[in-house]
Amino acid sequence: MFFEKIVTAPADPILGLTEEFKNDPRPNKINLGVGIYKTNEGNTPILKCVKKAEEIIFKTETTKSYLPIVGSPEYGQLVRELIFGADSDVIKSNRARTCQAPGGTGALRIGADFLKQQDVTKKVWISDPTWANHFQVFGKAGLETAKYPYYNKETNGLDFDGMVNTLKTASAGDVVVVHACCHNPTGIDPTPAQWEELAKLFAELKLIPFFDFAYQGFGNGIDEDAAGIRTFLKYNNEILISSSFSKNFGLYNERIGALTIVSENSEVADRVFSQMKVAVRANISNPPAHGALIVTTVLSNPELKALWIEEVKEMRDRIKEMRDLFVAKLQALGVSTDFSFIAEQYGMFSFSGLNKDQVARLKEEFGIYIVGSGRISVAGITTSNIDPLCEAIAKVL
Ligand code: LMR
Repeated sequence: MFFEKIVTAPADPILGLTEEFKNDPRPNKINLGVGIYKTNEGNTPILKCVKKAEEIIFKTETTKSYLPIVGSPEYGQLVRELIFGADSDVIKSNRARTCQAPGGTGALRIGADFLKQQDVTKKVWISDPTWANHFQVFGKAGLETAKYPYYNKETNGLDFDGMVNTLKTASAGDVVVVHACCHNPTGIDPTPAQWEELAKLFAELKLIPFFDFAYQGFGNGIDEDAAGIRTFLKYNNEILISSSFSKNFGLYNERIGALTIVSENSEVADRVFSQMKVAVRANISNPPAHGALIVTTVLSNPELKALWIEEVKEMRDRIKEMRDLFVAKLQALGVSTDFSFIAEQYGMFSFSGLNKDQVARLKEEFGIYIVGSGRISVAGITTSNIDPLCEAIAKVL
């Protein structure tokens, strides 16, 4: 027997928690683990712009034949415009190429395979802390991974000096995974001045940035959230970007994302693109169409695009409201820890500072599920669950 020696894998720290939550019989349980947006009624509805696009697709789609290996070119163009801005120099000089990918994770993996297969890099630096899947995605692609500090426990802010000092020990050609906005799990992003400094540092040290752009629109706005990437473009000619439309289009189960690679010039970009194709073909052959059709239909229709921008704003504003309410409720309960930093964080998550024991007690005693790192999905807080949540936190502190 060959399979006998196989041991059971540990549960996934995020999606495993959802499974555990589903099996919990307690009626008042609360799942603030996985990053899924919920309305104040606790639903994850299909966006209106998506429904309208699907109606159009239903009437106009004529075939389910294969897409090209790298997906729809129109989709690629629209993704680049979202990242760089329609009149950006990168688009005008035709130096970037985009391939459709099954979700942001698919894009990260295709990028990782490309880097490994082409021997672009040996080492990938990842922030500490980071999204629980990053190490696995790059590690399973056969790349060596290393950590750079990101979070300062004392200030609940960015450990900028620690980050810079560690990156200074990296070698030319190393890849650094950078969260483009709404850092997962801390919700802490560099300031404009820090982005500028980082962009210059990467250029000086010849480090290759690989942006994970999963939350465009959840921080300050669609264009505003691309500011870090756009600053890097001023100094760096080689960049990878993984985009996800799971959150900002609510297309979680359609698995729609994209990998965009910026090169020095158009001729190099073509060669890079040919190798991206090999990485896609070996992984998934060619991508699924429906999610890309939705995104393309929305972004290419001015009316639907305006509706989408409005709906993203609604989600962003509701999360911000919950952050403020969360801080105010904890304060009103007389909690001595100052949680005001939570209101300053960006995106779906709040890095609460709760330790492993407190997280375990929240689950065991109160049926409240949050990730072991203390990450709370603020996007899942509602006016109905905020009181029991804050009361339970006050009890475990
Ligand atoms: C999260 O961080 O909760 C999301 O990105 C969902 C996932 O796939 O982990």
